[in-house]
Amino acid sequence: MSDVSDLVLDARGLVKHFPITQGIVFKSKIGAVRAVDGVDLQLRRGETLGIVGESGCGKSTLAKLLVGLEKPTSGEITVRGENMVRLSGPALRRARRNIQMVMQDPYTSLNPRMTVGDIIGEPYAIHPDAVPRSGRERAVQELLDLVGLNPDHINRYPHQFSGGQRQRIGIARALALRPEIIVCDEPVSALDVSIQAQVINLLERLQRELGLSYIFIAHDLSVVRHISDRVAVMYLGKIVETGHHKAIYEQPTHPYTQALLSAVPVPDPRLRGHRDHIVLEGDVPSPANPPSGCRFRTRCWKAQPYCADHEPLLQVRQRAPHPSACHYAEIRDVLHRY
Ligand SMILES: Nc1ncnc2c1ncn2[C@@H]1O[C@H](COP(=O)(O)OP(=O)(O)O)[C@@H](O)[C@H]1O
Ligand code: SF4
Ligand SMILES: [Mg+2]
Repeated sequence: MSDVSDLVLDARGLVKHFPITQGIVFKSKIGAVRAVDGVDLQLRRGETLGIVGESGCGKSTLAKLLVGLEKPTSGEITVRGENMVRLSGPALRRARRNIQMVMQDPYTSLNPRMTVGDIIGEPYAIHPDAVPRSGRERAVQELLDLVGLNPDHINRYPHQFSGGQRQRIGIARALALRPEIIVCDEPVSALDVSIQAQVINLLERLQRELGLSYIFIAHDLSVVRHISDRVAVMYLGKIVETGHHKAIYEQPTHPYTQALLSAVPVPDPRLRGHRDHIVLEGDVPSPANPPSGCRFRTRCWKAQPYCADHEPLLQVRQRAPHPSACHYAEIRDVLHRY
C-alpha cells in the first residue's frame, strides 16, 4: 500500500490560540481561545481524510492553518517536503499553490460583483506564471467544463447560479492552480440534501481523474461516510479518535465518536430500530476555558474522577485497536452491523 513517499501533507503539533484582549488603547491579553490545540495529521496521495466534529470544535481554523490563511501559534506543516510555516514571500506563495480550499458557504464565498470568469481566474492574477494571460479565458472555460458547468456562462454573475452550481464554481477556482491537495470545509453543509450527493460525486470524480488528495470536513459522520478513506474525529481543538473508515464506523472506541455515530441516519429501515441511541447533552464548552483533564468529560457518560486530572493521549490502547483519546476506550458497535 502507501509508503512515506506517498505523503503529500504532514502536520505536527498544530496549535492556534486566538488571544482574548481587554482595553482599546493598551490592549492586554487576558486569555486565549484554544481553537486548535495540538493536532497531528498526515495525508497520502489520492487519499481522503474526513474530519468530523460539532460546530466550534476548531475544524475551520484547522483548515485555514493547512492552507496558510492563518499562521499557527506553533507546529509544523510539511507539504511535499517543505515546511510551510517557515516560508514567506514568493516561496510561501509558490508552496500554497499546491494546497487549496473549498469554502463552506457558496452563497457568501463568491464575490457578487465579479463574473464567474474573474472569480475562477483570480488565482492567475496572484500567480501570473501559472497560465499566460492569453490562455486564461480558455483555462477558465476548461475548468467550467471540468466541474460540469457550461463554459459559455463565463461572463455570468454568481446570483445567476443555484447553490450547487455556485459550489461547482468554488471547486473550479480551487482547481485553477492544479493543486495536489484540496481542503473542503463543509462543502455541502449549506446545500439541499438532493444537491449534496451531486457535489460529492463531482469531488470523487475529480479525485479519480486528477489524482487529488482531500481533507474533507463535515459536522456529522454521515456526510463523510462514503468519501473518506480515513476519518479523524475532533473535539474542542483536538483529535479524539482516528482510523480507517471501517474502524471508525464499525468499531468506534471513543464515547464522543459513539455519540456522533448514534445520530447518523441509517438508510436501511430494518436496521434503524437496532442501533444504540446516545444523546449528547449540552453544547461544546468554550475553547477559551476547556475542561481540565479530558475535554469531553463534562458530556461523557463514562467519566470517572480520574478523567478530570489526567488528559488522555491519542493512542492505541488495550481495547482500542486504533488511536483513541479516552482512558476507558473500548469498542462499542453503535450501529450493530454484525
Ligand atoms: N479569528 C478568530 N478569533 C477568535 N476566535 C476565533 C476566531 N476564529 C475562530 N474562533 C473560535 O475558535 C473556535 C473554533 O472555531 P472554528 O474553527 O470555526 O470551529 P468549527 O469550524 O469546528 O465550527 C470557536 O470558539 C470560534 O469562536
Ligand atoms: S477519558 Fe473519561 S471523560 Fe474522557 S472520554 Fe474517556 S471516559 Fe469519557
Ligand atoms: Mg467551520
